[in-house]
Amino acid sequence: MNSSSSGMWSSRLIFILAAAGSAVGLGNIWRFPYVAGENGGGVFVLAYLLCICVIGLPIMIAEIVLGRAGKNSPIASMTILAKDSGTNPAWQIIGWMGVVAGFMILSFYSVIAGWALAYFFKMVQGVFVSIDALNANRVFEDFIGDPYRLVFWHTVFMAITIFITSRGVDQGLEKAVKVLMPGLFFLLILLLTWAVSSSGHFLEGLSFLFSPKPQDFSGNSVFLAMGQAFFTLSLGMGAIMAYGAYLSKSAGIVGSALTIGGLDTLVALLSGMIIFPIVFANGLEPSAGPGLMFVSLPLAFGNMVAGQIFGAIFFLLVSLAAVTSAISISEPAVAWLAERGKFGRPTSSYIIGLFAWVLGLGSAFSFNLMSDFTLLPERSFFDSMDFLSNNILLPLGGILISVFVGWRLKAEILVDQLPNLPRLFWVLLIFSLRFIAPGAIFIVFAMSILK
Ligand code: PHE
Repeated sequence: MNSSSSGMWSSRLIFILAAAGSAVGLGNIWRFPYVAGENGGGVFVLAYLLCICVIGLPIMIAEIVLGRAGKNSPIASMTILAKDSGTNPAWQIIGWMGVVAGFMILSFYSVIAGWALAYFFKMVQGVFVSIDALNANRVFEDFIGDPYRLVFWHTVFMAITIFITSRGVDQGLEKAVKVLMPGLFFLLILLLTWAVSSSGHFLEGLSFLFSPKPQDFSGNSVFLAMGQAFFTLSLGMGAIMAYGAYLSKSAGIVGSALTIGGLDTLVALLSGMIIFPIVFANGLEPSAGPGLMFVSLPLAFGNMVAGQIFGAIFFLLVSLAAVTSAISISEPAVAWLAERGKFGRPTSSYIIGLFAWVLGLGSAFSFNLMSDFTLLPERSFFDSMDFLSNNILLPLGGILISVFVGWRLKAEILVDQLPNLPRLFWVLLIFSLRFIAPGAIFIVFAMSILK
Protein backbone atom coordinates (compact mmCIF):
# COMPACT_ATOMS: atom_id res chain seq x y z
CA MET A 1 0.00 0.00 0.00
CA ASN A 2 1.74 3.05 -1.17
CA SER A 3 0.61 6.21 -2.86
CA SER A 4 3.67 6.37 -5.09
CA SER A 5 1.82 4.23 -7.63
CA SER A 6 -0.70 7.02 -7.99
CA GLY A 7 1.78 9.89 -8.03
CA MET A 8 2.29 13.10 -6.12
CA TRP A 9 1.33 16.68 -6.91
CA SER A 10 4.39 18.47 -8.18
CA SER A 11 3.87 21.52 -5.95
CA ARG A 12 1.63 23.05 -3.31
CA LEU A 13 0.14 25.31 -5.98
CA ILE A 14 -0.87 22.31 -8.04
CA PHE A 15 -2.47 20.73 -5.00
CA ILE A 16 -4.42 23.94 -4.41
CA LEU A 17 -5.51 24.03 -8.05
CA ALA A 18 -6.50 20.37 -8.03
CA ALA A 19 -8.40 20.66 -4.76
CA ALA A 20 -10.02 23.87 -5.99
CA GLY A 21 -10.79 21.96 -9.19
CA SER A 22 -12.51 19.38 -7.03
CA ALA A 23 -14.38 21.99 -5.03
CA VAL A 24 -15.39 24.25 -7.91
CA GLY A 25 -17.89 22.45 -10.08
CA LEU A 26 -21.59 21.96 -10.61
CA GLY A 27 -22.09 22.60 -6.91
CA ASN A 28 -21.11 26.23 -7.37
CA ILE A 29 -22.45 27.11 -10.78
CA TRP A 30 -25.50 24.89 -11.07
CA ARG A 31 -26.56 23.79 -7.59
CA PHE A 32 -25.84 26.80 -5.39
CA PRO A 33 -28.00 29.29 -7.33
CA TYR A 34 -30.98 27.00 -7.68
CA VAL A 35 -30.95 25.78 -4.07
CA ALA A 36 -30.55 29.37 -2.88
CA GLY A 37 -33.42 30.30 -5.21
CA GLU A 38 -35.65 27.60 -3.77
CA ASN A 39 -34.86 28.60 -0.21
CA GLY A 40 -35.44 32.29 -0.07
CA GLY A 41 -32.05 33.58 -1.20
CA GLY A 42 -30.49 35.73 1.53
CA VAL A 43 -31.23 33.50 4.50
CA PHE A 44 -29.85 30.52 2.74
CA VAL A 45 -26.71 32.33 1.62
CA LEU A 46 -26.04 33.61 5.13
CA ALA A 47 -26.46 30.15 6.63
CA TYR A 48 -24.26 28.72 3.87
CA LEU A 49 -21.44 31.19 4.55
CA LEU A 50 -21.62 30.44 8.27
CA CYS A 51 -21.42 26.71 7.59
CA ILE A 52 -18.39 27.20 5.34
CA CYS A 53 -16.49 29.09 8.04
CA VAL A 54 -17.56 27.27 11.18
CA ILE A 55 -17.84 23.71 9.89
CA GLY A 56 -16.28 23.52 6.43
CA LEU A 57 -12.83 25.00 6.88
CA PRO A 58 -11.85 23.08 10.04
CA ILE A 59 -13.02 19.85 8.43
CA MET A 60 -11.11 20.60 5.25
CA ILE A 61 -7.94 21.03 7.29
CA ALA A 62 -8.73 17.79 9.12
CA GLU A 63 -9.22 15.88 5.87
CA ILE A 64 -5.96 17.10 4.36
CA VAL A 65 -4.15 16.17 7.58
CA LEU A 66 -5.63 12.66 7.53
CA GLY A 67 -4.80 12.15 3.87
CA ARG A 68 -1.22 13.33 4.10
CA ALA A 69 -0.59 11.42 7.32
CA GLY A 70 -2.20 8.23 5.98
CA LYS A 71 -0.67 8.46 2.48
CA ASN A 72 -3.18 6.00 1.00
CA SER A 73 -6.82 5.78 -0.06
CA PRO A 74 -9.16 7.10 2.65
CA ILE A 75 -10.16 3.57 3.69
CA ALA A 76 -6.55 2.45 4.10
CA SER A 77 -5.42 5.77 5.58
CA MET A 78 -8.11 5.61 8.25
CA THR A 79 -7.19 2.02 9.08
CA ILE A 80 -3.52 2.95 9.42
CA LEU A 81 -4.17 6.11 11.44
CA ALA A 82 -6.61 4.40 13.80
CA LYS A 83 -3.98 1.74 14.45
CA ASP A 84 -1.14 4.24 14.91
CA SER A 85 -3.30 6.21 17.32
CA GLY A 86 -4.09 3.07 19.30
CA THR A 87 -7.80 3.43 18.77
CA ASN A 88 -10.67 1.37 17.34
CA PRO A 89 -10.13 0.10 13.77
CA ALA A 90 -13.84 0.74 13.17
CA TRP A 91 -12.86 4.34 12.37
CA GLN A 92 -12.22 3.11 8.85
CA ILE A 93 -16.00 3.46 8.45
CA ILE A 94 -15.17 7.07 7.47
CA GLY A 95 -13.50 5.72 4.35
CA TRP A 96 -16.30 3.27 3.56
CA MET A 97 -19.05 5.82 3.96
CA GLY A 98 -17.10 8.09 1.66
CA VAL A 99 -16.98 5.44 -1.03
CA VAL A 100 -20.74 4.92 -0.78
CA ALA A 101 -21.41 8.67 -0.86
CA GLY A 102 -18.99 8.96 -3.78
CA PHE A 103 -20.96 6.45 -5.85
CA MET A 104 -24.20 8.26 -5.19
CA ILE A 105 -22.77 11.69 -5.97
CA LEU A 106 -20.88 10.59 -9.06
CA SER A 107 -24.00 8.92 -10.45
CA PHE A 108 -26.19 12.01 -10.49
CA TYR A 109 -23.29 14.39 -11.02
CA SER A 110 -22.51 12.72 -14.32
CA VAL A 111 -26.09 13.12 -15.49
CA ILE A 112 -26.11 16.87 -14.85
CA ALA A 113 -22.62 17.32 -16.25
CA GLY A 114 -23.99 15.54 -19.34
CA TRP A 115 -26.59 18.29 -19.62
CA ALA A 116 -23.79 20.85 -19.63
CA LEU A 117 -21.97 18.92 -22.37
CA ALA A 118 -25.14 18.76 -24.45
CA TYR A 119 -25.64 22.48 -23.96
CA PHE A 120 -22.16 23.13 -25.25
CA PHE A 121 -23.19 21.56 -28.55
CA LYS A 122 -26.53 23.34 -28.58
CA MET A 123 -24.65 26.62 -28.15
CA VAL A 124 -22.29 25.77 -31.00
CA GLN A 125 -25.27 25.03 -33.23
CA GLY A 126 -26.80 28.40 -32.39
CA VAL A 127 -29.98 26.95 -30.86
CA PHE A 128 -30.33 29.91 -28.51
CA VAL A 129 -29.63 32.84 -30.82
CA SER A 130 -32.17 35.60 -29.98
CA ILE A 131 -34.26 33.14 -27.97
CA ASP A 132 -36.95 34.27 -25.49
CA ALA A 133 -37.65 32.89 -22.00
CA LEU A 134 -40.54 30.71 -23.11
CA ASN A 135 -38.54 28.96 -25.78
CA ALA A 136 -35.44 28.61 -23.64
CA ASN A 137 -37.67 26.79 -21.19
CA ARG A 138 -39.10 24.62 -23.92
CA VAL A 139 -35.71 23.55 -25.24
CA PHE A 140 -34.80 22.48 -21.72
CA GLU A 141 -38.05 20.60 -21.06
CA ASP A 142 -37.80 18.78 -24.38
CA PHE A 143 -34.23 17.84 -23.65
CA ILE A 144 -34.67 16.39 -20.17
CA GLY A 145 -37.84 14.64 -21.30
CA ASP A 146 -35.80 12.48 -23.67
CA PRO A 147 -34.24 9.51 -21.86
CA TYR A 148 -32.03 8.54 -24.79
CA ARG A 149 -30.33 11.89 -25.01
CA LEU A 150 -29.78 12.07 -21.25
CA VAL A 151 -28.26 8.59 -21.15
CA PHE A 152 -26.10 9.39 -24.15
CA TRP A 153 -24.58 12.49 -22.51
CA HIS A 154 -24.30 10.78 -19.13
CA THR A 155 -22.31 8.07 -20.91
CA VAL A 156 -20.05 10.56 -22.66
CA PHE A 157 -19.30 12.39 -19.43
CA MET A 158 -18.62 9.21 -17.47
CA ALA A 159 -16.33 7.96 -20.23
CA ILE A 160 -14.27 11.17 -20.10
CA THR A 161 -14.03 10.94 -16.32
CA ILE A 162 -12.99 7.30 -16.37
CA PHE A 163 -10.46 7.94 -19.10
CA ILE A 164 -8.74 10.58 -16.99
CA THR A 165 -8.84 8.69 -13.69
CA SER A 166 -7.50 5.59 -15.40
CA ARG A 167 -4.34 7.52 -16.26
CA GLY A 168 -3.55 8.28 -12.66
CA VAL A 169 -3.49 11.52 -10.77
CA ASP A 170 -0.37 13.13 -12.09
CA GLN A 171 -0.76 12.35 -15.80
CA GLY A 172 -2.75 15.06 -17.50
CA LEU A 173 -4.84 16.25 -14.58
CA GLU A 174 -2.15 18.66 -13.43
CA LYS A 175 -1.92 20.29 -16.82
CA ALA A 176 -5.67 20.37 -17.22
CA VAL A 177 -6.39 22.21 -13.98
CA LYS A 178 -3.66 24.74 -14.73
CA VAL A 179 -5.45 25.84 -17.88
CA LEU A 180 -9.06 25.26 -16.90
CA MET A 181 -9.27 27.05 -13.60
CA PRO A 182 -8.04 30.44 -14.87
CA GLY A 183 -10.21 30.00 -17.97
CA LEU A 184 -13.32 29.43 -15.91
CA PHE A 185 -12.51 32.43 -13.79
CA PHE A 186 -12.09 34.65 -16.83
CA LEU A 187 -15.49 33.66 -18.19
CA LEU A 188 -17.18 34.21 -14.87
CA ILE A 189 -15.82 37.76 -14.77
CA LEU A 190 -16.97 38.33 -18.33
CA LEU A 191 -20.48 37.15 -17.52
CA LEU A 192 -20.51 39.19 -14.34
CA THR A 193 -19.62 42.31 -16.31
CA TRP A 194 -22.50 41.54 -18.62
CA ALA A 195 -24.91 40.98 -15.72
CA VAL A 196 -23.86 44.28 -14.12
CA SER A 197 -24.01 46.37 -17.27
CA SER A 198 -26.77 44.89 -19.42
CA SER A 199 -29.27 42.95 -17.40
CA GLY A 200 -30.79 46.04 -15.77
CA HIS A 201 -31.61 43.92 -12.71
CA PHE A 202 -28.23 43.49 -11.06
CA LEU A 203 -29.23 45.12 -7.79
CA GLU A 204 -32.39 43.07 -7.57
CA GLY A 205 -30.27 39.96 -7.99
CA LEU A 206 -27.83 41.15 -5.34
CA SER A 207 -30.54 41.95 -2.87
CA PHE A 208 -32.13 38.54 -3.43
CA LEU A 209 -28.79 36.94 -2.69
CA PHE A 210 -27.69 39.03 0.25
CA SER A 211 -30.70 40.35 2.13
CA PRO A 212 -31.98 37.74 4.52
CA LYS A 213 -35.70 37.74 5.00
CA PRO A 214 -36.33 36.50 8.54
CA GLN A 215 -39.75 35.14 7.63
CA ASP A 216 -38.02 32.58 5.38
CA PHE A 217 -35.77 31.44 8.17
CA SER A 218 -36.33 27.83 9.12
CA GLY A 219 -34.34 24.91 10.44
CA ASN A 220 -34.61 23.46 7.00
CA SER A 221 -32.76 26.32 5.26
CA VAL A 222 -29.86 25.81 7.64
CA PHE A 223 -29.98 22.06 7.08
CA LEU A 224 -29.86 22.46 3.31
CA ALA A 225 -27.17 25.13 3.58
CA MET A 226 -25.03 22.75 5.58
CA GLY A 227 -25.42 20.01 2.96
CA GLN A 228 -24.50 22.51 0.27
CA ALA A 229 -21.41 23.62 2.23
CA PHE A 230 -20.17 20.03 2.42
CA PHE A 231 -20.95 19.33 -1.21
CA THR A 232 -19.39 22.48 -2.60
CA LEU A 233 -16.17 22.07 -0.60
CA SER A 234 -16.00 18.34 -1.51
CA LEU A 235 -15.98 17.44 2.18
CA GLY A 236 -17.14 14.54 4.28
CA MET A 237 -16.48 11.73 1.80
CA GLY A 238 -12.72 11.52 1.52
CA ALA A 239 -12.18 13.32 -1.79
CA ILE A 240 -9.99 15.97 -0.21
CA MET A 241 -8.43 13.29 1.99
CA ALA A 242 -7.49 11.30 -1.10
CA TYR A 243 -5.95 14.41 -2.68
CA GLY A 244 -4.12 15.19 0.56
CA ALA A 245 -2.36 11.84 0.26
CA TYR A 246 -0.56 13.13 -2.83
CA LEU A 247 0.60 16.36 -1.16
CA SER A 248 4.24 16.78 -0.30
CA LYS A 249 5.26 17.09 3.29
CA SER A 250 6.63 20.62 3.00
CA ALA A 251 3.36 22.29 1.97
CA GLY A 252 1.38 24.28 4.52
CA ILE A 253 -2.08 22.83 5.09
CA VAL A 254 -3.97 25.66 6.77
CA GLY A 255 -3.10 28.28 4.16
CA SER A 256 -4.00 25.84 1.38
CA ALA A 257 -7.38 25.08 2.93
CA LEU A 258 -8.20 28.78 3.32
CA THR A 259 -7.27 29.44 -0.31
CA ILE A 260 -9.35 26.52 -1.61
CA GLY A 261 -12.35 27.47 0.52
CA GLY A 262 -12.05 31.13 -0.48
CA LEU A 263 -11.88 30.39 -4.20
CA ASP A 264 -14.81 28.02 -3.99
CA THR A 265 -17.01 30.49 -2.13
CA LEU A 266 -16.09 33.26 -4.54
CA VAL A 267 -17.14 31.18 -7.55
CA ALA A 268 -20.47 30.25 -5.93
CA LEU A 269 -21.29 33.86 -5.08
CA LEU A 270 -20.24 35.08 -8.53
CA SER A 271 -22.47 32.46 -10.13
CA GLY A 272 -25.42 33.69 -8.10
CA MET A 273 -24.61 37.29 -8.99
CA ILE A 274 -24.67 36.32 -12.65
CA ILE A 275 -27.74 34.09 -12.70
CA PHE A 276 -30.23 36.02 -10.55
CA PRO A 277 -30.12 39.31 -12.48
CA ILE A 278 -30.89 37.29 -15.63
CA VAL A 279 -33.68 35.48 -13.82
CA PHE A 280 -35.30 38.73 -12.68
CA ALA A 281 -34.73 40.53 -15.97
CA ASN A 282 -36.65 37.82 -17.82
CA GLY A 283 -39.45 37.13 -15.40
CA LEU A 284 -38.16 33.65 -14.64
CA GLU A 285 -38.78 31.98 -11.28
CA PRO A 286 -35.77 32.02 -8.92
CA SER A 287 -37.16 28.76 -7.49
CA ALA A 288 -37.17 26.98 -10.84
CA GLY A 289 -35.08 24.08 -9.53
CA PRO A 290 -32.32 22.13 -11.30
CA GLY A 291 -33.13 23.75 -14.65
CA LEU A 292 -32.37 27.29 -13.47
CA MET A 293 -28.90 27.53 -15.00
CA PHE A 294 -29.95 25.73 -18.18
CA VAL A 295 -32.67 28.24 -18.90
CA SER A 296 -31.31 31.54 -17.62
CA LEU A 297 -27.79 31.35 -19.04
CA PRO A 298 -28.76 30.28 -22.59
CA LEU A 299 -31.23 33.14 -22.53
CA ALA A 300 -28.51 35.60 -21.62
CA PHE A 301 -26.02 34.22 -24.11
CA GLY A 302 -28.66 34.09 -26.82
CA ASN A 303 -29.18 37.82 -26.47
CA MET A 304 -25.66 39.17 -26.11
CA VAL A 305 -23.04 40.11 -28.65
CA ALA A 306 -20.96 37.05 -29.61
CA GLY A 307 -23.07 35.11 -27.12
CA GLN A 308 -22.94 32.00 -29.25
CA ILE A 309 -19.18 31.82 -28.82
CA PHE A 310 -19.08 32.80 -25.16
CA GLY A 311 -21.99 30.50 -24.42
CA ALA A 312 -20.25 27.57 -26.05
CA ILE A 313 -17.04 28.28 -24.17
CA PHE A 314 -18.95 28.69 -20.94
CA PHE A 315 -20.76 25.36 -21.12
CA LEU A 316 -17.55 23.70 -22.15
CA LEU A 317 -15.85 25.09 -19.10
CA VAL A 318 -18.72 24.09 -16.84
CA SER A 319 -18.38 20.57 -18.23
CA LEU A 320 -14.65 20.61 -17.65
CA ALA A 321 -15.04 22.05 -14.15
CA ALA A 322 -17.38 19.12 -13.60
CA VAL A 323 -14.72 16.73 -14.90
CA THR A 324 -12.12 18.02 -12.43
CA SER A 325 -14.69 17.45 -9.66
CA ALA A 326 -15.92 14.07 -10.88
CA ILE A 327 -12.38 12.73 -10.90
CA SER A 328 -12.02 13.61 -7.24
CA ILE A 329 -15.41 12.09 -6.38
CA SER A 330 -14.27 8.74 -7.74
CA GLU A 331 -10.73 8.97 -6.34
CA PRO A 332 -11.42 7.42 -2.89
CA ALA A 333 -13.02 4.35 -4.48
CA VAL A 334 -10.56 4.05 -7.37
CA ALA A 335 -7.51 4.50 -5.13
CA TRP A 336 -8.87 1.88 -2.73
CA LEU A 337 -9.54 -0.68 -5.46
CA ALA A 338 -6.19 -0.04 -7.12
CA GLU A 339 -4.15 -0.32 -3.92
CA ARG A 340 -5.67 -3.73 -3.12
CA GLY A 341 -3.52 -4.92 -5.99
CA LYS A 342 -5.96 -7.22 -7.76
CA PHE A 343 -6.57 -4.79 -10.60
CA GLY A 344 -4.34 -2.06 -11.92
CA ARG A 345 -5.36 1.55 -11.80
CA PRO A 346 -7.06 1.52 -15.25
CA THR A 347 -9.26 -1.51 -14.56
CA SER A 348 -10.12 -0.13 -11.13
CA SER A 349 -11.33 3.08 -12.75
CA TYR A 350 -13.42 1.20 -15.29
CA ILE A 351 -15.10 -0.88 -12.61
CA ILE A 352 -15.94 2.07 -10.36
CA GLY A 353 -17.11 4.12 -13.33
CA LEU A 354 -19.34 1.33 -14.57
CA PHE A 355 -21.08 0.99 -11.20
CA ALA A 356 -21.63 4.73 -10.96
CA TRP A 357 -22.89 4.80 -14.55
CA VAL A 358 -25.52 2.14 -13.84
CA LEU A 359 -26.65 3.98 -10.72
CA GLY A 360 -26.79 7.16 -12.77
CA LEU A 361 -29.40 5.68 -15.10
CA GLY A 362 -31.89 6.02 -12.25
CA SER A 363 -31.17 9.75 -12.08
CA ALA A 364 -31.35 10.20 -15.85
CA PHE A 365 -34.75 8.49 -15.90
CA SER A 366 -36.03 10.59 -12.99
CA PHE A 367 -36.69 13.38 -15.44
CA ASN A 368 -38.70 11.28 -17.86
CA LEU A 369 -39.50 7.53 -17.71
CA MET A 370 -39.41 7.36 -13.92
CA SER A 371 -40.71 10.82 -13.09
CA ASP A 372 -43.47 9.35 -10.91
CA PHE A 373 -41.18 7.00 -9.05
CA THR A 374 -40.15 7.99 -5.54
CA LEU A 375 -37.33 6.37 -3.59
CA LEU A 376 -37.54 8.45 -0.43
CA PRO A 377 -41.01 9.86 0.29
CA GLU A 378 -41.82 12.61 -2.21
CA ARG A 379 -38.37 12.47 -3.77
CA SER A 380 -37.49 11.17 -7.19
CA PHE A 381 -34.51 8.86 -7.60
CA PHE A 382 -32.36 11.85 -8.52
CA ASP A 383 -33.57 13.92 -5.54
CA SER A 384 -33.09 10.96 -3.22
CA MET A 385 -29.47 10.43 -4.29
CA ASP A 386 -28.79 14.13 -3.93
CA PHE A 387 -30.49 14.34 -0.53
CA LEU A 388 -29.01 11.17 0.96
CA SER A 389 -25.47 12.01 -0.08
CA ASN A 390 -25.27 15.76 0.44
CA ASN A 391 -27.55 16.23 3.39
CA ILE A 392 -27.03 13.00 5.30
CA LEU A 393 -23.84 11.11 4.42
CA LEU A 394 -21.51 14.08 3.95
CA PRO A 395 -22.44 15.82 7.23
CA LEU A 396 -22.25 12.47 9.06
CA GLY A 397 -18.81 11.91 7.54
CA GLY A 398 -17.96 15.41 8.72
CA ILE A 399 -18.92 14.64 12.32
CA LEU A 400 -16.81 11.48 12.31
CA ILE A 401 -13.81 13.21 10.71
CA SER A 402 -13.83 16.12 13.14
CA VAL A 403 -14.31 13.86 16.16
CA PHE A 404 -11.55 11.53 15.01
CA VAL A 405 -9.02 14.30 14.45
CA GLY A 406 -10.15 16.30 17.48
CA TRP A 407 -10.30 13.48 20.01
CA ARG A 408 -8.66 10.34 18.72
CA LEU A 409 -5.80 11.06 16.35
CA LYS A 410 -2.45 10.75 18.11
CA ALA A 411 -1.22 14.24 19.04
CA GLU A 412 2.24 13.67 17.51
CA ILE A 413 0.70 12.92 14.12
CA LEU A 414 -1.31 16.13 14.17
CA VAL A 415 1.64 18.23 15.33
CA ASP A 416 3.81 16.65 12.67
CA GLN A 417 1.30 17.59 9.93
CA LEU A 418 0.86 21.16 11.15
CA PRO A 419 4.32 22.36 12.15
CA ASN A 420 4.80 26.04 13.00
CA LEU A 421 1.10 26.65 13.42
CA PRO A 422 0.67 29.75 15.61
CA ARG A 423 -0.76 28.98 19.03
CA LEU A 424 -3.98 30.87 18.43
CA PHE A 425 -4.67 28.79 15.34
CA TRP A 426 -4.05 25.60 17.27
CA VAL A 427 -6.50 26.53 19.95
CA LEU A 428 -9.10 27.56 17.37
CA LEU A 429 -8.63 24.43 15.28
CA ILE A 430 -8.78 21.98 18.15
CA PHE A 431 -11.72 23.76 19.69
CA SER A 432 -13.56 23.71 16.35
CA LEU A 433 -12.85 20.07 15.67
CA ARG A 434 -13.70 18.92 19.19
CA PHE A 435 -16.80 20.96 19.88
CA ILE A 436 -17.96 23.52 17.35
CA ALA A 437 -18.03 21.54 14.10
CA PRO A 438 -19.51 18.28 15.43
CA GLY A 439 -21.81 20.22 17.75
CA ALA A 440 -23.06 22.48 14.98
CA ILE A 441 -23.69 19.57 12.62
CA PHE A 442 -25.53 17.75 15.38
CA ILE A 443 -27.69 20.75 16.23
CA VAL A 444 -28.57 21.35 12.59
CA PHE A 445 -29.58 17.68 12.22
CA ALA A 446 -31.66 17.87 15.38
CA MET A 447 -33.33 21.09 14.29
CA SER A 448 -34.36 19.62 11.00
CA ILE A 449 -35.85 16.54 12.63
CA LEU A 450 -37.74 18.53 15.26
CA LYS A 451 -38.98 21.22 12.92
N1 PHE B 1 -17.41 20.08 -4.88
C1 PHE B 1 -17.94 19.60 -6.12
C2 PHE B 1 -18.86 20.67 -6.69
O1 PHE B 1 -19.17 21.65 -6.04
C3 PHE B 1 -18.67 18.29 -5.96
C4 PHE B 1 -17.97 17.28 -5.13
C5 PHE B 1 -18.59 16.71 -4.03
C6 PHE B 1 -16.67 16.88 -5.42
C7 PHE B 1 -17.97 15.79 -3.23
C8 PHE B 1 -16.01 15.96 -4.63
C9 PHE B 1 -16.65 15.42 -3.54
O2 PHE B 1 -19.31 20.55 -7.79
